[in-house]
Amino acid sequence: MSLVCVEDFEQNAKTKLEKNALDYYKSGAGEQYSLKLNRDAFKRLRLRPRCLRDVSQINISCEIFGHKLQWPLGIAPTAMQKMAHPDGEGGNARAAGKAGSIFILSTLSTTSLEDLAAAAPDTIKWFQLYIYKDRSLTESLVRRAEKANFKALVLTIDAPIFGHRRADVRNNFSLPSHLSLANFQDEKANGVITMKGASGINEYVSSQFDPTLSWKDIKWLKEITKLPIVVKGVLTAEDAILAREFGCHGVIVSNHGARQIDTVPASIEALPEVVKAVGNDLVVMMDGGILEGNDIFKALALGAKAVFVGRPAVWALAYNGQRGVEEMLHVLRKDFEITMALIGCQALKDIQPSMVAHESTYSKI
Ligand SMILES: Cc1cc2nc3c(=O)[nH]c(=O)nc-3n(C[C@H](O)[C@H](O)[C@H](O)COP(=O)(O)O)c2cc1C
Repeated sequence: MSLVCVEDFEQNAKTKLEKNALDYYKSGAGEQYSLKLNRDAFKRLRLRPRCLRDVSQINISCEIFGHKLQWPLGIAPTAMQKMAHPDGEGGNARAAGKAGSIFILSTLSTTSLEDLAAAAPDTIKWFQLYIYKDRSLTESLVRRAEKANFKALVLTIDAPIFGHRRADVRNNFSLPSHLSLANFQDEKANGVITMKGASGINEYVSSQFDPTLSWKDIKWLKEITKLPIVVKGVLTAEDAILAREFGCHGVIVSNHGARQIDTVPASIEALPEVVKAVGNDLVVMMDGGILEGNDIFKALALGAKAVFVGRPAVWALAYNGQRGVEEMLHVLRKDFEITMALIGCQALKDIQPSMVAHESTYSKI
C-alpha cells in the first residue's frame, strides 16, 4: 500500500523500530504538552484561499545564503540516524540533495562529517554544532566542517543540558553497541568521549557540553570561522534581537521538537514575534511539527524563509532508508504544491500574511 502522507511514514516506522530507538525518536520532554502543541497550533491557523489567480505554473524555488533550493524545506539535525536504518545520515542527506533541500548534520551523528561529505557531495550541507567544554575540540569540529564543504554552522542554543525525556530514562536509553558517535573516533580511542550505561545520552551531555555557554561564545565562534552562523532554538524576540546584535546570520525558531522543556510555545506560535523583531535583518527559519503542505505554507505566511523537518525524515529512513526519505519528501512537496495552487499562489513571493488567520478570528462570528 502506498504511503500518501507523512503520518503514514510514522505509522510504518512504528512497526519497524525497536522500543529503545522508537521512544528516543518520538519523545518530548516532561508531560509532552508542547509536543502535542507543535501540531495543534498549526491546526488553530486557518487558511484564507484566494481564487481565480491562474495557478497553471507553480514555482517554489528559493535562495538561502546564496544557495538555490528547489523548495524551502530542509532536514533538521537529528542525532544517531543509523539507529533508524543502516543508510543513516548518508542516505538522508542524499535524499535531501535529490529533492533540492538542505541537510543539517547533527554533532551527535552516527556518520562522521567527512563520511557524510563523501556520501552526499552534491547536497547543500550545514553542520549543527554543540559547544563542548573542550574548546579545542569544538574548534576542530568547525575546521572539519569547513574542510568538508559544509556551508553554514547551526549553533544549537537551547541545550546547555538535555531535557527530561521520561521514556529514555525508563528505557535506560543508550546507543546500540554496534554504533558510535562518529565525529569522535579519535577521542573515543583516547577514552575522552564515550556514551554508555543508564540514560547514557544525558550523562554524556552533562559531562561534555558546556552549560556556561553565553552570547559571548558567539563572538568567539565568529572569530574562528567565516561560515554563516545560524542559531537554533530561539523562541523569543529578545533572543532573536541578541542573535542580531552578536552578528548571527540567521535563526531557527525551534523548541527542539519539544524535547527540551515542556510547556514552551509551539515553534509556529513563537515565529511571529521573532519575525517582527528581526525578520528584516536575519534569515528567519523554523522547525517543529511540520507534517503537511499546509503547515509549510502557514510558516512561510507568518514570515519564515524556510522550514525543517526532524522526525518525518527519521520515520522515512526507518521505513525504507534513503528511498524512504526520497518518497516522504516527494509526498510533502506535492502536498505543498497543491496547497500553493489552491490558495492562489504561483510563487513564494505571492504568499501573504493575510492568507492565514488564527481560529479566534472566526470563532468570534
Ligand atoms: C530524535 C531527535 C534527535 C534530535 N537531535 C538533535 C540534535 O542532535 N541537535 C539539534 O540541534 N537538534 C536535534 N533535534 C531537534 C531537531 O533538530 C528539530 O528541532 C525537531 O526535530 C523539529 O521537530 P519535528 O521533529 O517535529 O520536525 C532532535 C530531534 C529529534 C526528534
